[in-house]
Amino acid sequence: KDVSEESLRSPICCIMGHVDAGKTKLLDRIRGTNLQEGEAGGITQQIGATYFPAENIRERTKEIISHVDHAKLKVPGLLVIDTPGHESFSKLRSHGSDLCDIAILVVDIMHGLERQTIESLNLLKMRNTDFIVALNKVDRLYGWKTCRHTQMKEAIEQQSKDVRNEFRMRLDQIITQFKEQGLNTDLYYSKGNIRERYSIVPTSAITGEGIPELLWLILAQWTRKNKVEKPTYSDQVQVEVVEGLGTTIDVVLVNGVLHGGDRIVVCGKQGPIVTTIRSLLTPHPMKELRVEGTYLHHKEIKAVQGIKITAQGLEHASTATGLYVVRPQDDLEEIEEKAMED
Ligand code: GTP
Ligand code: MG
Ligand code: NA
Repeated sequence: KDVSEESLRSPICCIMGHVDAGKTKLLDRIRGTNLQEGEAGGITQQIGATYFPAENIRERTKEIISHVDHAKLKVPGLLVIDTPGHESFSKLRSHGSDLCDIAILVVDIMHGLERQTIESLNLLKMRNTDFIVALNKVDRLYGWKTCRHTQMKEAIEQQSKDVRNEFRMRLDQIITQFKEQGLNTDLYYSKGNIRERYSIVPTSAITGEGIPELLWLILAQWTRKNKVEKPTYSDQVQVEVVEGLGTTIDVVLVNGVLHGGDRIVVCGKQGPIVTTIRSLLTPHPMKELRVEGTYLHHKEIKAVQGIKITAQGLEHASTATGLYVVRPQDDLEEIEEKAMED
């Protein structure tokens, strides 16, 4: 069936992997920001969200992806969720993977699969979430020559024999490690049926190489998988609280619409919190929700989006839980119970 562009829902893409694999740095590179260097100890400690309108992704990939290929992508945008890789944040990783439709699993080419890479992999397997592997830090291969404005396939061909050998050796080891986890992976441009394997895209968050391919592949894969039954957004509101920040909360609107003035229920540390949305704020497109900045005010927001909500009484809101909207016909007590079950 043909659905209007208006009703299409953007996918949510979670970026996962071991600590310091380069998840935040990759996002910094795409956003043109420098958030990673400001993190305490260089460690991500909470879930982040950045919305990329499809237009911006097209702009960022047009140098190496043909116009014709772009025309095939049918999504309004992409909401990318950054997750912490440090072992102590497994609850946040699990919540992040619950939220997402697709994922990027970041692997440091110098380290291969590590403990939290495998933990992330198991979360993705459990929920049957499709993903792409970003084989990051290729610039650290000894003697790597940066090739700008070039497809990764050609960039690799242009390296010296030593670099190509080291790349191949590390890649083969990592493919074997994935096999040990029961997964068939291969380079995104290698021959063979792309439906029967997970693609690996070599990237560098420092030089930017491979990032356009990564963005394009994630959208292309999503578009291909949903060719018949296009994902449309529904009226059924689904909201997840990802961070409590004193008087405000950061949420991911997974589906439906939120309005200023909506009566909401969230799980609180001392019982359910019933309150009314005072303001709905979003960062500018391509900006991270968890970073203080100027916000855009909205009367209503349609999914998918990362949102900061201000309302009275949010000081004791729990995180990694659902947020429920109360309509006039709803039974408040029932919703309060549901909110506390999370
Ligand atoms: P956590 O969120 O703490 O799990 O880490 P992360 O996966 O977000 O990694 P992060 O972006 O914090 O990067 C870790 C370190 O690796 C930083 O010092 C980055 O500058 C460096 N780094 C990330 N990507 C690359 C890359 O492609 N090449 C090189 N040379 N260094 C990189
Ligand atoms: Mg990080
Ligand atoms: Na880090």
